[in-house]
Amino acid sequence: MSLLLNRTQFGDAANKGKTLTKEEAEQLFTDWVLNPRLQLHMKQVAALMRAWAKEKEGLDEAGQWQWEMAGLLHDADWDQWPEQHCKKIIEELESRNVDPEILHAIASHGPLHFGVEPETKMDKMLYAFDELSGLIHAYSLMRPGGYEGMDVKGVKKRLKEKSFAANVSRDDINDACNRAGITLDELITFIIPRQAIVA
Ligand SMILES: [Fe+2]
Repeated sequence: MSLLLNRTQFGDAANKGKTLTKEEAEQLFTDWVLNPRLQLHMKQVAALMRAWAKEKEGLDEAGQWQWEMAGLLHDADWDQWPEQHCKKIIEELESRNVDPEILHAIASHGPLHFGVEPETKMDKMLYAFDELSGLIHAYSLMRPGGYEGMDVKGVKKRLKEKSFAANVSRDDINDACNRAGITLDELITFIIPRQAIVA
């Protein structure tokens, strides 16, 4: 099964700045994503994207929502249409005149799968958060205190254990950090407290 998108242009430049409203995005999310674990993953990535846009990029509310929306909907089609993963949500958002930057971020969140390179900071951070967020959440579930007291060292130890959250690609995580120009330590440090509040 190939998920390659076989294109690099998404959406229409005339739609720059256009997003779904929060209510529209939440409606789509609820209609399309039925699995509670996947819902939580997408909400966590959305929260991380918003936090990064605000704290590291200094974006205003509109900019923060663009990042958050990319996170909230990046896996929207994975649950019910895995064989059309990424393609379906992109086409849906294209038909609803969403900003090409949001579409590109979603399209490039798995470059090895979809064949689209992460280019912007939004692209790169979505790619970086996606895999690592899942591993950190899995780690929280096996710790008696959940996220409490979790540190970088513990997460890195889990990363080294190949059998732990084995479906999480370590290569993707390293590749994402390199592309985003941040260290693994920085990324883990950012994620732990901000994801803890969406657990
Ligand atoms: Fe994801």
